[in-house]
Amino acid sequence: MYKNIAVLGASGSIGRQTLDVIRRLNLNLVAISVHNNSKALKEIVDEFKPVKAVITGNAEPPSGIDVSYGKEGLIEIANMPEVEIIVVATNGIVGVYPTMEGLKNGKRVALANKETLVSFGPFIKPLMSKGELIPVDSEHSSAFQILKDLKKDEVKKLILTASGGPFRNWNIEDIRRAKPEDALKHPTWRMGRKITVDSATLMNKGLEVIEAHFLFDIPPDNIEVRIHPQSVIHAIVVLKDNSFKMHASIPDMRIPIQYAITYPERYETPIKEYDFGVLELLPVDTRKFPALDLAYKSLKLGGTYPAVMNASNEVAVYSFLEGKINFYGITEVVERVIEENPFGKAEKFEEYLEADKWARNRAKEIIEEWGR
Ligand SMILES: NC(=O)c1ccc[n+]([C@@H]2O[C@H](COP(=O)([O-])OP(=O)(O)OC[C@H]3O[C@@H](n4cnc5c(N)ncnc54)[C@H](OP(=O)(O)O)[C@@H]3O)[C@@H](O)[C@H]2O)c1
Repeated sequence: MYKNIAVLGASGSIGRQTLDVIRRLNLNLVAISVHNNSKALKEIVDEFKPVKAVITGNAEPPSGIDVSYGKEGLIEIANMPEVEIIVVATNGIVGVYPTMEGLKNGKRVALANKETLVSFGPFIKPLMSKGELIPVDSEHSSAFQILKDLKKDEVKKLILTASGGPFRNWNIEDIRRAKPEDALKHPTWRMGRKITVDSATLMNKGLEVIEAHFLFDIPPDNIEVRIHPQSVIHAIVVLKDNSFKMHASIPDMRIPIQYAITYPERYETPIKEYDFGVLELLPVDTRKFPALDLAYKSLKLGGTYPAVMNASNEVAVYSFLEGKINFYGITEVVERVIEENPFGKAEKFEEYLEADKWARNRAKEIIEEWGR
């Protein structure tokens, strides 16, 4: 098992759970990044004594450790010879830089950050044969664990499950009036605020469909989503003889995080065994959750469309949390920005960055126009 780990986004929800795995398996935390959280940075440095800390935002640098800044700092971590695994658990598109650099260097990247594959999938795919890209997200970890033992021509389709979020049983009119605190009440998972709202719109599942396409090379029409309120089954692979394999666990991110670190070995966890109960798998009502169709649409349009969708969605989610737009305003903004995307199927990495920037500005403009 690899022992020397860097955790980017160490103060976040995935980051802290990764630190839990590191503590339990007695691994060596070599480097970390945080954005603004000075207190967490100091605590992590005091406890784990990494040799390098990177600050991507405004956190106060602690004493007694080599500190670097920004995306260059994240790239530096990916180039440290002693780092064997890079856990990329930051928010935002900045995750793409250490992911690409780590893969180029032949390292293992345990990827939680969604934006990297959603917005830059075409640039990550060719690097997947240079290093190891192991997914951390529960659905992709499950799909990975099923697919690794199958031949490509055995696979008919991949089904990702979604809890359905807090609005699964609400009607459209009530959802339209939902407040941020309603959207932040996730029924099964405890996560950061942005991803929790994405789970309520089902955009999170849309992002996961796009990630799955790039990770496993499965066409969009062969990836399906089912509502599974218990969040126990994370992925199902239907085989060409119409039998299927599922992978399941109690919803706790420490299981897939640990597997991404220890793969191909498996170790015990403190998570209890599932005590079998009713497991439902239901169709998605896409009238109630239009974000999912938007994700399929952008994936099929290809090029910069997923990046533009992701960027405008991020702006719209924070505007919803600030009370500037209503819940369906999120997908309405995203739909408009996708329709106006002037970058289309651009081919250069820089154009994808420009498309991301354009989409954020355009989303802000639209929201401001609505506010007037
Ligand atoms: N939470 C989950 O269960 C889950 C599951 C699957 C995938 N993911 C994905 O994993 C990523 C992290 O999710 P999370 O729930 O752990 O988020 P989170 O709790 O908000 O933590 C985000 C982490 O990234 C740092 N960060 C924030 N903004 C940043 C920026 N602009 N640049 C660099 N670093 C930044 C934060 O630092 P500060 O604390 O200093 O601000 C924190 O360490 C997201 O892409 C999410 O979609 C999460």
